[in-house]
Amino acid sequence: METPNGPRVPCSQAAVARALLFGLVLIQVAGVAGTTDVVKAYNITWKSTNFKTILEWEPKPINSVYTVQISHRLGNWKNKCFYTTNTECDVTDEIVKNVKETYLARVLSYPADTSIYAVEPPFTNSPEFTPYLETNLGQPIIWSFEQVGTKLNVTVHDARTLVRANSTFLSLRDVFGKDLNYTLYYWKASSTGKKKATTNTNGFLIDVDKGENYCFHVQAVILSRRANQKSPESPIECTSHEKVLSTELFFIIGAVMLVIIIFIVVLSVSLHKCRKARAGQSGKENAPLNAA
Ligand SMILES: *[C@@H]1O[C@H](CO)[C@@H](O)[C@H](O)[C@H]1NC(C)=O
Ligand SMILES: *[C@@H]1O[C@H](CO)[C@@H](O)[C@H](O)[C@H]1NC(C)=O
Ligand SMILES: *[C@@H]1O[C@H](CO)[C@@H](O)[C@H](O)[C@H]1NC(C)=O
Ligand SMILES: *[C@@H]1O[C@H](CO)[C@@H](O)[C@H](O)[C@H]1NC(C)=O
Repeated sequence: METPNGPRVPCSQAAVARALLFGLVLIQVAGVAGTTDVVKAYNITWKSTNFKTILEWEPKPINSVYTVQISHRLGNWKNKCFYTTNTECDVTDEIVKNVKETYLARVLSYPADTSIYAVEPPFTNSPEFTPYLETNLGQPIIWSFEQVGTKLNVTVHDARTLVRANSTFLSLRDVFGKDLNYTLYYWKASSTGKKKATTNTNGFLIDVDKGENYCFHVQAVILSRRANQKSPESPIECTSHEKVLSTELFFIIGAVMLVIIIFIVVLSVSLHKCRKARAGQSGKENAPLNAA
């Protein structure tokens, strides 16, 4: 009499437990079923130039949408680009808050049908990213240049970034300070031997040979970096001292020649008229002679 009751209680407990477990499994299976067609992001990369920063990943979503989360070390996740079907997300706003921080992002995948709510969406972590060390330097632009006598003055444009301080946008020089050098590569237009000059401002003032034309380009260098130290090279510019003079000379010579031509035409026309008039006069003078 005791024995049926004895095992019955634990037995029914086991049954309940089994039923519960089965239920849980069912719920889990349903959950998994709801997210089976959700693809996880891969190949997450940071595309960043002068702090403008876009997170990119693959693949193009089918039946799913992505949300990006970004955080600096020990920070809270901040959601960006909610339920997007894109495979990129502009996170510039977040990383410019402190460009020396190290950031981590993750891309969460949700089913496109948002009624199937995924509590724990699958996600992929990005590599870490420290803007100050890793943002690419944009191609510099030579703002102005001037060759006066034996001095060549070259000024590099100080590019604006999206980093803000006191509600104004900072330039590349503001952000990097003395950590940013520019290198000038210059050579005589008539030769190929390159020379180098460096500056920790945005201006160069170098000694050159008078009357020679020079060509040059510049490159930005971040001194504190071990990798990704240099920008692409700027487009090449050349001084055209001689050429400017020769075009000026060309116009002067042209103008002088035009004046001479007009003068000759006017002179020959008036001479012709004079000769005709004289011929007419001599004709009149001759007539009486002939008649006589
Ligand atoms: C990531 O991209 C590279 C080329 O950009 C490709 O070779 C590689 O197979 C990709 N990784 C995956 C997991 O598809
Ligand atoms: C060089 O050129 C810049 C821009 O035109 C000018 O501001 C600067 O004063 C010049 N420097 C010298 C030494 O002439
Ligand atoms: C911003 O303003 C504060 C005080 O108003 C000043 O100390 C700081 O140097 C300013 N920063 C910049 C980058 O101008
Ligand atoms: C940076 O520029 C300064 C000033 O011209 C120069 O003294 C220094 O050597 C440069 N540093 C490098 C690594 O080129």
